[in-house]
Amino acid sequence: MASTLDISAARSHFPALQQEQVYMDNAGETNLHFYGPDDFEIMLIISIGISTTQLLHNLATALKFQPGDELVLSKLNHEANTSPWVHIAERLGLTVKWWAASDPKNPVCDPVELKSLLSDKTRLVACPHASNITGTISPIRNIADVVHVHSRALLCVDGVALAPHRQVDVKALDVDFYAFSWYKVYGPHLAQLYASSRVHDQIQSLGHFFKPTDTLDLKLNLASANYELTQSIPEVVEYFGSDPSTTWAQMAEHEERLQQILLEFLASNSRIDVIGEPSASKELRVPVISFVVQGAGSQRLVEEVERRSAFGFRSGHMYSHRLLADVCGLEDVEDGVVRVSFLHYNTGEWVSRLDDTNKDRGRSTGAGRGIARGTRIVVVVDSLRTRTITIWIHFIKTIHAMKTFSNFVNFVRFCGFCRFSHYIQIAYFATWLPCSGDLGHLNFLEIHQLEA
Ligand SMILES: Cc1ncc(COP(=O)(O)O)c(C=O)c1O
Repeated sequence: MASTLDISAARSHFPALQQEQVYMDNAGETNLHFYGPDDFEIMLIISIGISTTQLLHNLATALKFQPGDELVLSKLNHEANTSPWVHIAERLGLTVKWWAASDPKNPVCDPVELKSLLSDKTRLVACPHASNITGTISPIRNIADVVHVHSRALLCVDGVALAPHRQVDVKALDVDFYAFSWYKVYGPHLAQLYASSRVHDQIQSLGHFFKPTDTLDLKLNLASANYELTQSIPEVVEYFGSDPSTTWAQMAEHEERLQQILLEFLASNSRIDVIGEPSASKELRVPVISFVVQGAGSQRLVEEVERRSAFGFRSGHMYSHRLLADVCGLEDVEDGVVRVSFLHYNTGEWVSRLDDTNKDRGRSTGAGRGIARGTRIVVVVDSLRTRTITIWIHFIKTIHAMKTFSNFVNFVRFCGFCRFSHYIQIAYFATWLPCSGDLGHLNFLEIHQLEA
């Protein structure tokens, strides 16, 4: 039966089909964000995949190991650069050594600490170029030098948190593997893995036996790169202009100013602990800034800021679970940290406004003065890590019974004393009790003004 599909009409919707040659790998011709290798070399040493997590799993499966090999994994890693290596170690019976950090407030990938973990059995070291929690930049070249003292040791760097902020010269860094995700570099959901040409013979091909194995992509990519998304990458690269190094340098300078504004504000509040590099120097950090506020949950804080303003940032462990649990010692890793991260398109004016939003919040959570009638508040009585029972006081039933302010105070003290609750949530309290009095004499850690 003849096709009812108008093939010519269908083809007319695809402009690329109207040229003689349909070339679907433009991105392979550009320098794909890595600076150092020439374009021809790039074709050989890059693999494109759907995510950094997937690419590193492919790499871990394809890399050749020997019995007795040791893997050294940084606790600062996003899990994407840890779980592939942990899985392969379990499967092959290899040893995993953890590279931790001594300062829980400013954890770093310290080459000196690394040295003591390395031996001639070391096959791989995996660490981040910048932590997606702390924003701190790791001294990758120094680390590579320490790793390469051992002849079989390879260095695998996760560049996802750094790549949106800096141009990456894989040759100058002397890394063996380097991965990042295009969706963090203003592009589509694709990721890219580099493997130094000197290690290609150490990677087995995952492809069918009859397929060529000349390039990294042929070895690691189980299908073809997603053509449609890959086509968009040259457009992203074009965004950096004819002199990308200058553009990147300008971005870094601008971001340094942004991070300085926020870091100064955070440092001025004694209840806020920044986790990561305290200096705003662009040599030391990228604008990924995480912090915890003593006595306040990270998720609650983010929700509250979102409720009051147009700012959107995140809380949680952002898949760097081991860093927050094992290095920083956070008790509630799921609640995690508050993380604010900027890109070069953020403006100083907006970052200052963010500070103002937080300052407003600071005022309303201070001594409890001046809360308007009809306000709904949450009182955090103490920092006891007891089971949280939220007691709702419905104004008709309970507040009515507590006619005076001192009754209320005694009730709150009673709850705190009996450890019944960590949070006592009081609805419409001020409707019944004028609370313009000073609550500072109570052992309140904070009072959240929820709604006026
Ligand atoms: C530092 C870091 N590494 C790896 C990843 C995972 O990237 P992908 O989603 O491409 O697997 C992320 C994602 O946020 C990240 O921040």
